[in-house]
Amino acid sequence: MLSKFQTLYRHIIQDERNIPEATGQLSDLLSDIALACKVISLEVNRAGLIDILGLTGEKNVQGEEVKKLDEYANTLLKRMMQMGGHACALCSEEEETFVPIDEVYSDYSHKYIVHFDPLDGSSNIDANISIGTIFSIYKRISTKGPGTMDDCLQYGTKQVAAGYVVYGSSTVMVYTAGKGVHGFTLDPSVGEFLLFSENMKIPKKSKTYSVNEGNYSKWPDGVKKYIDYLKEKDSDTGRPYSSRYVGSLVADFHRNLLYGGIFMYPADNKNKNGKLRLMYEANPLAFLVEQAGGRASNGEKRILEIKPESLHQRTPLFIGSEEDVIMAEKFINKS
Ligand code: AHG
Ligand code: MN
Ligand code: MN
Repeated sequence: MLSKFQTLYRHIIQDERNIPEATGQLSDLLSDIALACKVISLEVNRAGLIDILGLTGEKNVQGEEVKKLDEYANTLLKRMMQMGGHACALCSEEEETFVPIDEVYSDYSHKYIVHFDPLDGSSNIDANISIGTIFSIYKRISTKGPGTMDDCLQYGTKQVAAGYVVYGSSTVMVYTAGKGVHGFTLDPSVGEFLLFSENMKIPKKSKTYSVNEGNYSKWPDGVKKYIDYLKEKDSDTGRPYSSRYVGSLVADFHRNLLYGGIFMYPADNKNKNGKLRLMYEANPLAFLVEQAGGRASNGEKRILEIKPESLHQRTPLFIGSEEDVIMAEKFINKS
């Protein structure tokens, strides 16, 4: 009964209590992010009512149209963390470069770097389909002043926490601070994220694949063969697989985490590194999936071990149930 009232903040604090050198700042930073996401959730739910749907008329650094909600979520997350005093640099999919932050309170060490995709699945906003926010937290390497580019470009293995929020049939937040993956549902009546699952584990093998199959003709041979293989009938290996593709990575990932599945966004002959971004999308979800017993790779190597060269770097992504990702890698490396 009591576990029903385990709030996100209480859970994070308990998580941090087991780390001897913890100062409580990570807990505070995570709750700043959670607070911003609660407000975004409210706005997503009211979106049709307040003329916030649609485009701003501008394009972001990657040449994509910016939706009003993209901008709203980006501004809100930035403000919340700028005021919070725990971050020294913010890196957003919607910003050209990182936003440095100088010390806000002298007694806080503002030691974290936060990467985020403020609104994932933007093309689904106007159609009432689940969208989300993805975030990833690193400790700074530099020792004082605003964060630097070196602080921002750290390997995924250096993440201290990561998570996402899905604004779906309900709003959920899933996070890891390196000790398992925990899920919370927003109870709108009390305005709190309440624990629904602790130490979440992704099934080792699944029966579902998620990919934009419209790109089939552009894929490398190995990827084509793997998808063909998943569609063949073979009861011993549980084939054919079902196909499920929302078009919001965060929603596809969440479903696969709960039920098992493999999500793919391969490279193709137009986009040599695929579409998804290493720092804002692939790394945080890779950290989460590994903590849940799954696997994430670019087809050849572990996502978390890819060297970050630039903030908006893209990477092919194969992520989800371990045995499925291993099978995808085998097909890709054979061809
Ligand atoms: P974003 O809305 O942050 O730009 O991300 C969109 C991404 C991801 O959420 C989704 O899985 C993928 O783009 C869909 O791309 P396609 O339309 O090419 O399938
Ligand atoms: Mn995205
Ligand atoms: Mn986005």
